[in-house]
Amino acid sequence: MSSLSNKRIILGVTGGIAAYKSAELVRRLQDAGAEVRVVMTHAATEFVRPLTMQALSGHQIHTELLDSDAEAGMGHIELARWADLLLIAPASADFIANMVHGRADSLLATIYLATPAKVAVAPAMNQAMWAHPASMDNIATLRQRNVNVIGPDDGIQACGDTGPGRMEQPDTIVTTVGSLFANGLLAGKKVVVTAGPTREALDPVRYISNHSSGKMGYALAEAASEAGAQVILISGPVNLAIPPNCQLVSVLSAGELLEASLEAADGADIFIAAAAVADYRAKAIAAQKIKKQDAGMTIQLERNPDVVSTVAAANSALFVLGFAAETENVEAHARDKLKRKKLDAIIANDVSRDDVGFDTDNNEACWIDADSTKTFSKRSKTQLARDIIEHMVHRQSL
Ligand code: PMT
Repeated sequence: MSSLSNKRIILGVTGGIAAYKSAELVRRLQDAGAEVRVVMTHAATEFVRPLTMQALSGHQIHTELLDSDAEAGMGHIELARWADLLLIAPASADFIANMVHGRADSLLATIYLATPAKVAVAPAMNQAMWAHPASMDNIATLRQRNVNVIGPDDGIQACGDTGPGRMEQPDTIVTTVGSLFANGLLAGKKVVVTAGPTREALDPVRYISNHSSGKMGYALAEAASEAGAQVILISGPVNLAIPPNCQLVSVLSAGELLEASLEAADGADIFIAAAAVADYRAKAIAAQKIKKQDAGMTIQLERNPDVVSTVAAANSALFVLGFAAETENVEAHARDKLKRKKLDAIIANDVSRDDVGFDTDNNEACWIDADSTKTFSKRSKTQLARDIIEHMVHRQSL
């Protein structure tokens, strides 16, 4: 599996002769599995034509902060939220200074301020400019703010000087960027994640189910795997690719989910229950397709087992993180489920909204445990999953 599979990268291109290398960088990032959107400063468009970048990335190039057409499509805040990584390559001395001062005078600068994603810069400038104390101070400030600095490379420069300041080679940038997504937070741990909906059959052609797409659970499995865990992903029927390095167990009903979960949880360290499990199933599944009746129809339902609380009760050493999908009094209901199901922590999310919750790319959530809460503002499910994993490790000293 490629190092950047499923990663969404905004490639920010600023003005400098190295901008020509950004065209190749787009291709290298895509080869590594990333989805790439390009944002160029005006200065960058003097060095490389937006059309070139558009043809390579396969998407419209974003240049203007105040562009009603672009805002109607993927606006600058939406773009900032979409990304897993903002990679600025080349990053000119001027743009780096802009970042340090938090100026929002271009689309790219605004995205930098607005994004919750990881940020990396590949500086490119003349060697004397790079060596200047102002540049050194600026780079040190960015590093303190968790901006990853890639390069620069040392060698002959476009101006004829020799020394450090050349943009790092695209292949090296791609390798470094890949390593930014790997962390050892869960190294040596076994993590089980449930995802997607369950289906409870009524007859051979009909079933009860819900709107879960599996995106939240798959993002959690991927984030746990990136964090170095051995991951078993138990999934209801969804239309998603298996995240890299995760072992998939496919299930249909809550009964199958329970069986697979008990088996996988044996010897595991963490159980994350993001699946949207049907609470009820048909008391009897009709052997043949149920025929229409003129009068109404009553289907008798019976309770399904509660998967997450059964797993928690059977494995006292397991850390169990549940989810609460609510449409009102979100936190209060989640807190109640945390206690009732005897979980270690729960993620509350609002499934009454169109922009988060079920079947969306973004989510907004609140972590609740016995003595703390933490709110995660709206962001991509990929990013939220990483933030949840990091918070879980931090809270539980796992
Ligand atoms: O899949 P997506 O489209 O990305 O949407 C994500 C999501 C909204 C499904 C996800 O974020 C989420 O909230 N998952 C939990 C859905 C759910 O079933 O919530 P609940 O409040 O009904 O259940 C509470 C907890 O008990 C959950 O951890 C659930 O997995 C578990 N449960 C529920 C019923 C049951 N019979 N057995 C269970 O284990």
